[in-house]
Amino acid sequence: MPGFMPGIHVFLSAYSLSHKTWMAGTSPAMTNASAVQEAESFGVYIHWPFCLSKCPYCDFNSHVRHQPIDQPRFAAAFAREIATTAQRSGPRTVSSIFLGGGTPSLMEPSTVGAILDAIGKHWHVADDVEVSLEANPTSVEATRFAGYRAAGVNRVSLGVQALNDSDLKTLGRLHSAQEARDAVAIARRIFDRYSFDLIYARPDQTPQMWGDELRIAIAESAEHLSLYQLTIEPETPFFGLHAAGKLQTPDEITARALYDVTQEICSQHGLPSYEISNHARSGAECRHNLVYWRTHEYVGIGPGAHGRLDIGGVRHALATEKRPESWLMRVEATGHGLVTDDVLNSEERADEFLLMGLRLAEGIDPARYRALSGRSLDPDRIASLRDEGAIVVDADGRLRVTQSGFPVLDAVVADLAA
Ligand SMILES: C[S@@+](CC[C@H](N)C(=O)[O-])C[C@H]1O[C@@H](n2cnc3c(N)ncnc32)[C@H](O)[C@@H]1O
Ligand code: SF4
Repeated sequence: MPGFMPGIHVFLSAYSLSHKTWMAGTSPAMTNASAVQEAESFGVYIHWPFCLSKCPYCDFNSHVRHQPIDQPRFAAAFAREIATTAQRSGPRTVSSIFLGGGTPSLMEPSTVGAILDAIGKHWHVADDVEVSLEANPTSVEATRFAGYRAAGVNRVSLGVQALNDSDLKTLGRLHSAQEARDAVAIARRIFDRYSFDLIYARPDQTPQMWGDELRIAIAESAEHLSLYQLTIEPETPFFGLHAAGKLQTPDEITARALYDVTQEICSQHGLPSYEISNHARSGAECRHNLVYWRTHEYVGIGPGAHGRLDIGGVRHALATEKRPESWLMRVEATGHGLVTDDVLNSEERADEFLLMGLRLAEGIDPARYRALSGRSLDPDRIASLRDEGAIVVDADGRLRVTQSGFPVLDAVVADLAA
């Protein structure tokens, strides 16, 4: 999902549209739009850029350091950038906070507490704010869960990735399947809301194997699962191995079958997809990710974090310095780590709205497209895409991509945006 907004957390949750377009099929299983209330919301994304080791498939802004991280110093810099950003945004009510990474579960609970305190000091925080933290499921990290809860986190998202040790080893993960299940059990005891991530379409994985594993995962899950197809990202070790024929991933037909199995089993178990790679019981969707897909406003704090902020009626696309130590020095010197501040024109805003919104089962409201771009979607293009079976227009006017339209989602978006 990087691509048009590289490095931003939004990409974690659905991955590159272009990489995954084929598998984006809206199936009858997908949650209907109307089930999700679309209130205006404001999200705060915090990026913790450090990991214990670099997974060979990962191209996120994550770094391994062999010296201990000076957490109080980073916490102070996060607080400082929050203050500067709040000055710029003006008063807002924060509806969701997401601590992503990297590996945020390497943060001490006191670091998390200091960051949440700073957010509460500079913005109004909604009573029902969702505060998510991404955690790697090692036993050491699970010992911090109670501290996170005490600091104000109310939802964790665990990077389980696989439920067998041999695939975890292939993926270069540091935890075992048993450790992951134990961490999920701890999360269940401590948090009312938790989710976990699995990666599928792994080397040698068959639909039968994946179906069996997914059923076990669903039995361990509660209200939300993120299920990502393994993407071979450029400049990762997996990319080189794949190119050299040393890492075989499922072919397109098998990958499609894996996707179909995912939809079928999840919907049978009450976890339909509400977005390409995200499944939830009704009402348990990740509110923070909906901020991105509904193109609401959010700020990004920390190294390599992205934001979208409306200032004086103009939408700004913001991004901070990616390298952690450079970001730290910039913030200490100037109060912020911003290196990109682009004004999006109406065309860019409208394109982003289509690209993000059409990933959702709920689709988009064409009236919002009109308000953003100053023009309507072309009725002839809509009619022709509808005749081709790529989209449907609901009785209330919402436009959604169909199961057969999702494999060509990029083309559908390009056609509508042209
Ligand atoms: C960047 S990670 C951050 C969370 C945490 N560090 C972890 O790895 O569990 C967020 C999620 O992205 C997914 N992910 C990262 N790279 C991927 C890739 N190349 N293909 C598919 N999923 C990927 C993993 O499922 C992971 O849980
Ligand atoms: S732990 Fe997560 S963020 Fe870190 S390298 Fe692995 S996948 Fe990437």
